[in-house]
Amino acid sequence: MKIGVFDSGLGGLIVAHGLVRSLPEYDYVYLGDTARVPYGNRGQETIYAFTREAVEQLFALDCALVIIACNTASAEALRRIQQEYLPQYFPDRRVLGVLIPAAEEAVRVSRTKRIGVLATTGTVASLAYEREIKKLAPEATVRQQAAPLLVPLVENNALKYAPPILHDYLTPLLAADIDTLVLGCTHYPYLSTEIRSIVGDSVAIVSADEIVPAKLRDYLVRHPEIASRLSKNATRRYVLTDIAPSTESVATALFGEPVPFEPIIIA
Ligand code: DGL
Repeated sequence: MKIGVFDSGLGGLIVAHGLVRSLPEYDYVYLGDTARVPYGNRGQETIYAFTREAVEQLFALDCALVIIACNTASAEALRRIQQEYLPQYFPDRRVLGVLIPAAEEAVRVSRTKRIGVLATTGTVASLAYEREIKKLAPEATVRQQAAPLLVPLVENNALKYAPPILHDYLTPLLAADIDTLVLGCTHYPYLSTEIRSIVGDSVAIVSADEIVPAKLRDYLVRHPEIASRLSKNATRRYVLTDIAPSTESVATALFGEPVPFEPIIIA
């Protein structure tokens, strides 16, 4: 069986690529819900319903384990999927998110425990990062900033318009004297050069794509019952719920190579 990677759009490809590079022997299926992106400004029930459908689709494509690369879905839907949906319908499969690994890493690298989180409106409203960081470091100060304009920039290959917008989003976080910044959305690592030039070298940047591969490796060591069910033929599939005229050029620009997408309709 395979490892599924789910994102609301194309941004999660960066997490998938990180996994494929670090753990190349496994078989992967990437599902991007490009027909319904963005999730970040939708209500919780909708995000839960969409995420559940995507997970179900990845299970139908023979995934034993699904990684939700989307922060918004991790924040708004993961707990319910793990606690209600899996035990009832798929007790032998697993769904993991990116939010707790990112919170753990932020607490690990922050010296002052003044931590900034840049995320979608949905993730910020869920307060999930604040909750998870404070579970690990109750003394932490968490300053969140919603950044709703960034995902459309990335999905539309329009990064050149990002610097002034980033400046506005990051100024309040810098004013709060953070020493660590969590990029709490799949799409933001694409803007890491611009973000680094605004925050400077003294702020540590935590980005899921850099953390998730090591966390998954560790998870598989601790869960041999899941690891033993994963096949190792190094196959990859990239399925999208919508392939628009711009999809290929956006993906190629982001990755430097074309991605062989297949269309899929979520039933
Ligand atoms: N993938 C989402 C996330 O990580 C961002 C895109 C969206 O809003 O759907 O939060």
